[in-house]
Amino acid sequence: MNNPLVLGIESSCDETAVALVRADRTIVAQRIASQDDAHRPFGGVVPELAARAHADRLAPMIAEVLTEAGVGLADVDAIAGTAGPGLIGGVMVGLVTAKALAYAAGKPLIAVNHLEGHALSPRLADATLNFPYLLLLVSGGHCQLLGVTGVGQYRRLATTIDDAVGEAFDKSAKLLGLGFPGGPALERAARTGNAARFALPRPLVGSDDPHFSFAGLKSAVLRARNGITDASPQDIADLAASFQQAATDCLVDRTARAIAAFPQASALVVAGGVAANLAIRSALAALAGAHGLKFAAPPLWLCTDNAAMIAWAGIERFQAGDVDDLHAPARPRWPLDPSAEAARGAGVKA
Ligand code: KG4
Ligand code: ZN
Repeated sequence: MNNPLVLGIESSCDETAVALVRADRTIVAQRIASQDDAHRPFGGVVPELAARAHADRLAPMIAEVLTEAGVGLADVDAIAGTAGPGLIGGVMVGLVTAKALAYAAGKPLIAVNHLEGHALSPRLADATLNFPYLLLLVSGGHCQLLGVTGVGQYRRLATTIDDAVGEAFDKSAKLLGLGFPGGPALERAARTGNAARFALPRPLVGSDDPHFSFAGLKSAVLRARNGITDASPQDIADLAASFQQAATDCLVDRTARAIAAFPQASALVVAGGVAANLAIRSALAALAGAHGLKFAAPPLWLCTDNAAMIAWAGIERFQAGDVDDLHAPARPRWPLDPSAEAARGAGVKA
């Protein structure tokens, strides 16, 4: 089997996704169905609605992807499904689907950690990215710095003690009235804003503590917003830009500290939904350049949740001979570094 073909399934949050990926990094076919319209009236992801939507859509999407690729399950070498961490109803829908396909087709199952999908996604995009690398993993539920020395080998150097950075984007966007999903809306608003107008805090910047904190920043956005009556679109844009700059400064400062703590890294890598933010990407690229490190960030579509990254993590594990049996559990929490102590406030959404 010189170029294995893996079917990936993702259902841990509000994206239903299916992909067929080959070990030579060809994305043979894929579908990503966003549930934004279903969750928008509630201003956030409703777990029950998400699980139902995954149950409705997953099977037809798998059929579509196989048809588009012109292959059957017999041609697939392994089935990779997200087994956590995430919203447990959705995780169960996807994992049980992956198990049923693996059993019916007599193929190996790979129960993928969604965070490992993000962590290895830059290697799907860039064949020259080798271990070890320093990874900034930034999403709706996580904000971590990890020393990555190989597939399945992660040392957590820092995490958030309260909110994840994506959560801070989403909540700030909501209180600025920018709509759902919040992160991309806030980035759009920030483009026309003056980032110097509001002096917002940069929690833990310059501290010896390695971790992140965003709760104080979010509260400061609320206070600043409440201090303006009849806010104009320009006021909102200025506040969005000031928030984005403060969040970026926090990420850069904490990452600079981790570069010193993990000197074996030859690259700085950013992944997860917040890695789609262009201001954050360019600040991190500059930081990497200043330290003589290669910088890697997946293309924007590969930063937010998708199944190609799950198939790719499956390929990396399959090639290492690391597959699961049908007992693999669905896990609402699943740290990449099991030896790291649980941090206050670390969410389940990845
Ligand atoms: O990885 P992801 O798609 O889902 C999780 O596993 O959490 O990340 C979603 C998070 C959300 O908080 C979303 O607002 C944020 O990533 N996000 C962004 C941008 N695009 C997505 N945050 C800032 N700027 C963006 N352009
Ligand atoms: Zn994710």
